[in-house]
Amino acid sequence: MDSILVKGNGELRGQIPIAGAKNACLALMPATLLSDEPLTLTNAPRLSDIRTMTQLLQSLGAEVASLQGGQVLALSSHALTDHRADYDIVRKMRASILVLGPMLARDGHAVVSLPGGCAIGARPVDLHLKALEAMGAELDLRDGYIHAKAPAGGLKGARVVFPLVSVGATENALMAATLAKGTTVLENAAREPEIVDLARCLRRMGARIEGEGSSTITIEGVDRLGGATHPVVTDRIELGTYMLAPAICGGEVELLGGRIELVGAFCEKLDAAGISVEETERGLRVARRNGRVKAVDVMTEPFPGFPTDLQAQMMALLCTAEGTSVLEERIFENRFMHAPELTRMGARIEVHGGTATVTGVEKLRGAPVMATDLRASVSLILAGLAAEGETIVSRVYHLDRGYERVEEKLSACGAQIRRIPG
Ligand code: UD1
Repeated sequence: MDSILVKGNGELRGQIPIAGAKNACLALMPATLLSDEPLTLTNAPRLSDIRTMTQLLQSLGAEVASLQGGQVLALSSHALTDHRADYDIVRKMRASILVLGPMLARDGHAVVSLPGGCAIGARPVDLHLKALEAMGAELDLRDGYIHAKAPAGGLKGARVVFPLVSVGATENALMAATLAKGTTVLENAAREPEIVDLARCLRRMGARIEGEGSSTITIEGVDRLGGATHPVVTDRIELGTYMLAPAICGGEVELLGGRIELVGAFCEKLDAAGISVEETERGLRVARRNGRVKAVDVMTEPFPGFPTDLQAQMMALLCTAEGTSVLEERIFENRFMHAPELTRMGARIEVHGGTATVTGVEKLRGAPVMATDLRASVSLILAGLAAEGETIVSRVYHLDRGYERVEEKLSACGAQIRRIPG
């Protein structure tokens, strides 16, 4: 297993290109299952999660070609040869559940493994299932699998009121509804930019959708969808992560392709901490104003609130802030596994349930640490960039799920970081 070695090396200066969004791409890829015509995704990120989704779609009979070094994905689902998403793939990546809605909508049946537990909390899929049931699907849970059947004549439009905001359940229901008979209204739908991106792509394929980006999405079912070419939206989590690099180390970095509207609530917190963010012709420029970062309180919420996927990285910043910050995690229980690792680097963090209290220290110290999940792993790299001495982050396969060429992107700005093959 590879590790990453980071040495604190002062200020960072330069440019970092931001890739297409992993989470958007993982929802766009299964949209191929809705049509027998080709779907081409451009600006795709090159990540192991994308390769896992590729394998899953191929196991169902879809063709997926990775072109231009992986930045273009050419997908085609002329006829599906299998309708079963196996446990071996689903357990690697929860987003696999997103093949359920499209398969059911197109062919009237699907068998998908239940994703099972996950390091950042229980993460059930009940909301996905309730939405599909409201559209008439019959579901049977046995042997660890969801066996789903559409009624004769296919899924029916329905009013679905989500009791809590779920990105994945909104995506599954949205895709299923494009081919259902009649009108579907999704209420308390997720408003994330990845949902907006999916709706735009589906519309390019011929779907009739209104209201994406608001909490009510209306879908008028159509008989069939066609092909399309669609660019994947910029990754707001990768963007926010690299915005934190000059914030934590000092210096000034331009994030190419970055846009404020993707990271509004996050920018407000950066501003309060003393970090300046300005728009440029090509993206966003981030710089630390004079002196130490100030403590700020953060609460994670569904979009447009502060994203849970930036909580670990923000904690790394606040570990060196002046004063005490309170971070409240409201989306996932048990998402503070980075806290004990940051503590090994000299951070002062107390966790009680979903709340972490961080008292800033002047300097973190390098240490051997372990990545426990995707966002936790990059928070340890950020902390290592600001620490005195060497930090070795082990188990970086988590990192490779969501960040492409992290060493290259950071070293181009002057960071001392390299991979140690293991
Ligand atoms: C997506 C993102 C993930 C991000 C999360 C929240 C992808 C591939 N992943 O995950 O990076 O952290 O949104 O922004 O896009 N819930 C239920 N029942 C369900 C579904 C969800 O109770 O059926 C709960 C979850 O346990 C969690 C909350 O709802 O507490 C939000 O989860 P959800 O928005 O569904 O997250 P994902 O779509 O899995």
